[in-house]
Amino acid sequence: MCGIMGYVGPQDAGPILVDGLRRLEYRGYDSAGIAVTNGSIHVRKAQGKIVNLEALLKREPLSGSVGIGHTRWATHGAPSDANAHPHTDPTGEFVVVHNGIIENYQSLKDQLAAAGAVFTSETDTEVLAHIIAREYDGDLVEAVRSTVAVCEGAYAMVVMSKKEPGKIVAVRKISPLVVGLGDGETYLASDIPAVLHRTRDFMIIEDDEMVIVTSEGATVKTIEGTEIDREVLHIDWDSARAEKGGYDHFMLKEIYEQPSVVTETLAGRLDEDGTVWLEDVAFDDDYVRSLDRVWITACGTAFHAGLIGQEIFRRVLRLPSNVEYAHELRYADPIIGPNELTIAISQSGETADTLAAARQAGESGSRMLAITNVVGSTLSRYADDVLYTRAGPEISVASTKAYMAMLIAQYLLALRLGSARGTVDKELATRIAHGLHRMPAAIEKTLAAEPDTIRAAEEIKDADDVYFIGRGLDYAIAMEGSLKLKEISYLHSEAMPAGELKHGTLALITDGVPVIVILTQRSVYDKTISAVQEVKARGGKIIAVAYDTDEEIAKHADTVLRIPDMPDLLAPVAAVVPLQLLAYHVARMRGHDIDQPRNLAKSVTVE
Ligand code: F6R
Repeated sequence: MCGIMGYVGPQDAGPILVDGLRRLEYRGYDSAGIAVTNGSIHVRKAQGKIVNLEALLKREPLSGSVGIGHTRWATHGAPSDANAHPHTDPTGEFVVVHNGIIENYQSLKDQLAAAGAVFTSETDTEVLAHIIAREYDGDLVEAVRSTVAVCEGAYAMVVMSKKEPGKIVAVRKISPLVVGLGDGETYLASDIPAVLHRTRDFMIIEDDEMVIVTSEGATVKTIEGTEIDREVLHIDWDSARAEKGGYDHFMLKEIYEQPSVVTETLAGRLDEDGTVWLEDVAFDDDYVRSLDRVWITACGTAFHAGLIGQEIFRRVLRLPSNVEYAHELRYADPIIGPNELTIAISQSGETADTLAAARQAGESGSRMLAITNVVGSTLSRYADDVLYTRAGPEISVASTKAYMAMLIAQYLLALRLGSARGTVDKELATRIAHGLHRMPAAIEKTLAAEPDTIRAAEEIKDADDVYFIGRGLDYAIAMEGSLKLKEISYLHSEAMPAGELKHGTLALITDGVPVIVILTQRSVYDKTISAVQEVKARGGKIIAVAYDTDEEIAKHADTVLRIPDMPDLLAPVAAVVPLQLLAYHVARMRGHDIDQPRNLAKSVTVE
């Protein structure tokens, strides 16, 4: 997830681009850059936050009235000056910024290198610039179209050439792109807030569309070239809301970003037949076959993601797997051996306890794989292998989309390990791959049922205590649902395996006490229903998360939050969504500061 800007008009483009990038910085902030044309193309880019780019522009100013800009969240190649966008072709006549991932960039890069191309960065973006230059035959739009034809992936790209000044050509393939229409000037951005203070009139570019931007306005076409009459959308959000993309809070925005987070985390990594490609995971099949155990260590929401991983690894790999809180593992003197893989999960890659546990596992001779969202984080630098989630920066303290990406990363890892160990055959791999590729649509469908979660929030918002129950993967989801609720609504909540309720906690279930039950695991469905009946018999109020095909649950539950039917193994991906929304709406109804809950910090870098 990166931020894109473009400008064509009478003003100096540089300050407009930098200002827009600052407003998009939430999308990524490990490097930034701009390019403008005035006869020739001039590029300035710098690693780090936008202040570094501003300082560079002070030292080395540029001017021109057409320009493109980018703020980066690294996916290919570490954050550095060289990897920062924009990228040019070797002649410097074509310049590109891009957001998302070109899945087949390595094979494209190999072909170009075989033909003599020399690259100055590790990015997939530079490959685009090379291809566009090679395809150019007097028409920039055609060159971009031919380039798109050979590129696979989910991305948005913005292209400018000194050969056709006064014009920007952009393409959207899943990653967002909007056009802002001014008076004799036109803007491009990955999000409306970047230019909302300059214009309120926008065109939203849809998937598989191309837009040609000049100072006179924008022409929208399908990639194939059919012109589209796109209506102009007038936006009247206030500035606080605009910053959150029209949502009231970053948390809600991030919940709604989850379908595209899944798409991005899978991009280029999962074939239809379940073959997995993990770019920064270097171990070979012999190593995987030699493994006796997998340890997973993490804190908080990342630990809950690890609970899901533990269950998947046990079920799919038939490999002993243990998830441990990092703050426990580091002092537990665990017996971790060289034939054991340790997976440390951390959104930030900076959590002190997780770093300490990872180090300890490494010192015990275990290979260390990091699942993290931040390229270049301490954890990623320490690890032997890294599986980057591609959730983009998460602003809300309560984690949602990063958790989602951690789940997807672990399914990918299970497929990778399972195929090497022979525990995942082609048929199962294909089924899991198919299910994962359908997950963005399943999450969209679950999000569409948000009104049901609002009604459920009304039911529990005044409760003193809320209980979450489930079995197996449903228990892991119950843990995350409970944490989400308590951290932002300040309502006491507790999660436990459904079978545990009768061993003590049932004493607390009285008239009207809400119990949220997750019911996606068919093999233990009847067992969980028994727990539901125990609750009902004491007057408890049941809110269930269940498949839309589950008719039985309506007989037992007071309220049912539906998710689309899917293989049980993948159900956590959808089942967590209504619980995130439930927590959000309870906190909103109770009037809390949702994005910055009391006493909590986004990154816990102290012990
Ligand atoms: C809860 C939450 C925290 C973090 C935990 C670990 O919503 O965000 O529980 O999951 O502090 O943080 P990372 O993943 O950065 O190691």
